[in-house]
Amino acid sequence: MAGNREFFNRRLHSLLGVIPVGVFLIQHLVVNNFATRGADAFNSAAGFMGNLPFRIFLEIFIIYLPLLFHAIYGLYIAFTAKNNVSRYGFFRNWMFFLQRISGIITLIFLAWHVWQTRIQAAFGVAVDFNMMAEIFSSPAMIVFYLVGVISTIFHFSNGLWSFAVSWGLTTTPRSQQIASYVTIIIFIALSYVGISTIFAFV
Ligand code: HEM
Repeated sequence: MAGNREFFNRRLHSLLGVIPVGVFLIQHLVVNNFATRGADAFNSAAGFMGNLPFRIFLEIFIIYLPLLFHAIYGLYIAFTAKNNVSRYGFFRNWMFFLQRISGIITLIFLAWHVWQTRIQAAFGVAVDFNMMAEIFSSPAMIVFYLVGVISTIFHFSNGLWSFAVSWGLTTTPRSQQIASYVTIIIFIALSYVGISTIFAFV
């Protein structure tokens, strides 16, 4: 019985990391990249997202609740699960370890990022291009965001690899090898999107 619940929680944790949290991550990175086209383009794209009908319900059910479950259960896995390292080679052992480390860095970054943007907006602060430019006037903030964004993208991309194993999509060594290449390409492409956005504000 307890084993069934553990299995269910694991599957739910895995699924939520991709749908909806991973899908939201991609959408968020792409919309913010309007910053590379200037302040007006960014403000109108961010304004469109911020004025969606039923915004608060969308946020709660598509972002906050799934992310909260994934993060809390993720912390439980990171601190309690036994490392299953003997089944894979050197590279995969490192990726397994880095998945847990990047989850923790991502959690710290997201807590700060949500406080600095969404919660400030709820207090009536205008969260727009100028505000983000103000944040990035600090070199320490640039470094913090670079580490946070790259960590989140790594966590998602490497997570896709283990997602494919968890759901039986890649069962052979060859398919897992191909999945490694595909997820490395996803990591590089999304990192380009995220990093170019940060430097658009500098
Ligand atoms: C934008 C935020 C996040 C996204 C998009 C995301 C995505 C993912 C994905 C796709 C997986 C792979 C699921 C699988 O192995 O089947 C995963 C695994 C994992 N996530 Fe996250 N995640 C995020 C935030 C977090 C946070 C804040 C934590 C908290 C520590 C966390 C902890 C973990 C852990 C420990 C695993 C490994 C599970 C395992 O190996 O069994 N994640 N994540």
